[in-house]
Amino acid sequence: MLFRNLVIFFLSYVKFNNCFNIGGFKIEWPTKLEDLNLYCKFKECCNDNWIKYNRVRLVKNLTDRVYGQPLLNEAVDALSAHFNPYYPPTKALTLSFHGMTGTGKNFVSKFIAESIYKAGSKSKYVHHFIGRMHFSERSKVHEYKSDLYSWLKGNMSDCPQQLFIFDEVDKIVPEVLNAIKPVIDYRDNVDGIDYSQSVFIFLSNTGADLINEHYYDLHMSEGKSREQLSLTDFEWLIKKGIFNEEGWLNKENSYFINIAKKVYYFSFIGSFYQFISTLGGFHHSDTIKNNLIDHYIPFLPLEERHIRSCIREEFRLKSVTNPRKEHIEQIMQYIEWGPDSSKTFSKTGCKRIGQKVALLVAKYYKQYFTGRDEL
Ligand SMILES: Nc1ncnc2c1ncn2[C@@H]1O[C@H](COP(=O)(O)OP(=O)(O)OP(=O)(O)O)[C@@H](O)[C@H]1O
Ligand SMILES: [Mg+2]
Repeated sequence: MLFRNLVIFFLSYVKFNNCFNIGGFKIEWPTKLEDLNLYCKFKECCNDNWIKYNRVRLVKNLTDRVYGQPLLNEAVDALSAHFNPYYPPTKALTLSFHGMTGTGKNFVSKFIAESIYKAGSKSKYVHHFIGRMHFSERSKVHEYKSDLYSWLKGNMSDCPQQLFIFDEVDKIVPEVLNAIKPVIDYRDNVDGIDYSQSVFIFLSNTGADLINEHYYDLHMSEGKSREQLSLTDFEWLIKKGIFNEEGWLNKENSYFINIAKKVYYFSFIGSFYQFISTLGGFHHSDTIKNNLIDHYIPFLPLEERHIRSCIREEFRLKSVTNPRKEHIEQIMQYIEWGPDSSKTFSKTGCKRIGQKVALLVAKYYKQYFTGRDEL
């Protein structure tokens, strides 16, 4: 009983003080749990054991698991330059991924997280925002802005090596992104906090039509294969596209927008149209105006051979190394192809293939239940 009380007294003392005085000897201990070596052996901490960029791992994952995206080499080089220990970065690295649905934007972000953090996307230093879920209400813009800024500040003062992934950027009210401008700008520090070591990745479908059309032209008229393309073939195009392309509200509710446009010429409701036409991610945002995005990475549309690879990979992930041909063809039949005339690209990339394969495996392959590749 006495021992128990002593332990409770000691622990409560430790909680409020970081030293203990015994007969003139001062014993100090760290105020942060993370400063204890033992703690960081088992729990994630902001140190080299847990955060260390691994280029080889990233290249291997992208080469083996991501199909049809050769321009990702540029993203790898950008990350390698950012994490070069001999030349510390002068600003946060900002990458913007653009492309149609199912081409691998989230998939690749996951591999990037795994190449930086031992805990991968589950790391407490990796943060994922989804436009539609977190920042889409126009009326809350001031709240979002101040919350986001203080939240970024809090996290980065804790550990400067953070990864922020903003998904569905085109669904975010653009002023919200203006709040991160001071954080991603060229500055040594803001309010005493070093933001330069962090990485921001923005994901969106904005510019996808332009990318597809341009790739189609280069491919069909100039006979270029996707492996021969470079970022310069696309970067200007994406930048122009996302700066000018209107946001989500404009696109998805175009019926109402058209009405508003008509009314615009006759009445004060025109101000309503002006207001909604500013919605949508980077659309005329400061982030673009001030050239704060370092690299725009296009995700090219996927062709038949890539879709077949995705199907095989999904079977492999479910322990089926030798799927039946008829099952592969069955899944191929679900895929819609475009553009209308040529039917060269999958309209949904490799999205939903995992679910289709899972269904077939559950139905026809016993190892779904036993873990062995047999019928
Ligand atoms: N290029 C690719 N190579 C291999 N697999 C891919 C590729 N693109 C997509 N996939 C597969 O499809 C799934 C869905 O892709 P992902 O979520 O990355 O698409 P996205 O580009 O983010 O689409 P969206 O714009 O709809 O969010 C991935 O988990 C992966 O299994
Ligand atoms: Mg996505």
